Amino acid sequence: MAPNDNVRVDGLRSPVYFDAVPFVLVAVLLVLTGCSGPFPQSVFAPRSDFATELDGLFWNVFWWAVAVFVIVETLLIVAIVRFRARPGAGAPKPVHGHTLLEIGWTLAPALILVFIAVPTMRSVFATAGHAPEGALRVEVIGHQWWWEYRYPTLGISAYNELHLPVKTPILVEMTSGDVIHSFWAPGLGGKRDLIQGRTSRIAFRPDSTGEFLGQCAEFCGASHANMRLRVIVESDSVFQRWIDRQRGAPATPAQGSPEERGQQIYRRSACIGCHTITGVSSAKVGPDLSHVGSRSTIAGALFPNTTESLQRWIQNAPALKPGALMPPQNLSGEDLDALVAYLQSLK
Ligand code: CUA
Repeated sequence: MAPNDNVRVDGLRSPVYFDAVPFVLVAVLLVLTGCSGPFPQSVFAPRSDFATELDGLFWNVFWWAVAVFVIVETLLIVAIVRFRARPGAGAPKPVHGHTLLEIGWTLAPALILVFIAVPTMRSVFATAGHAPEGALRVEVIGHQWWWEYRYPTLGISAYNELHLPVKTPILVEMTSGDVIHSFWAPGLGGKRDLIQGRTSRIAFRPDSTGEFLGQCAEFCGASHANMRLRVIVESDSVFQRWIDRQRGAPATPAQGSPEERGQQIYRRSACIGCHTITGVSSAKVGPDLSHVGSRSTIAGALFPNTTESLQRWIQNAPALKPGALMPPQNLSGEDLDALVAYLQSLK
């Protein structure tokens, strides 16, 4: 390319940036492919009154921002084109003090701010954690790096997977067992910090059944990103069956079965120092395992609850989840098989 190719006769540089248009288009296309879904943690699929409130507020602010952008950019482009430098034109005439304009551009942003601030304040109060009478209370305790859920009125607890009945108001009371965490299930509610010695609240009413993924949203150490959560919203009858199962005693292995051998291994290994299985052990450092077989995931909702992931998890938890407190267990293949079979039998 000759050095003067981009220079027009009148001395102004030609718009070189047009050469970049194809690249920009390709980049935009690539970015847009990210919009093809599915989005398990999207805030744009609200499934509770709380999430719908936030979604409405977001779109309100978004459309104001779009309007401001369009107006400002249009005026800018008009000004650039209309008042651009032309060869031979004299110096432009400056304008000082235009009362109408001054009032206009002071009032318009002030009014827009009012239209944004009023619904924002309304949403802040609407999501402040006030639950109607008769709401189901759930206590959430954040741990490095797993979630404990207690249902004080039902006398049961759950771990990492929060089961809730559909169309029922829920009051979530949150605190932390160690550092600050943040509960966030985008489809339903949050984000709200969990702070040791304090109780933070959110209230919501799930409006459809399904599994909702969530995530700890406050940096809390090495496995912050691995501190996932699941909310399983069920019909009343399914929720009741789940309650009944959690209330029941853990399964007792049959004599001479691999599960019984697994229970013996559990009793004589480090497991009992940290975990509870009702009637077998009662330590509270890690999650209660009395019904671990009834969960669909393990390790902070990180891995599917399968034989393979249970084995890998028991063998070397810190390798799968940095910072995990459970030390690697040195078990022979047979012992490991038996232990896993026992844990899986705890439905
Ligand atoms: Cu818990 Cu981040």
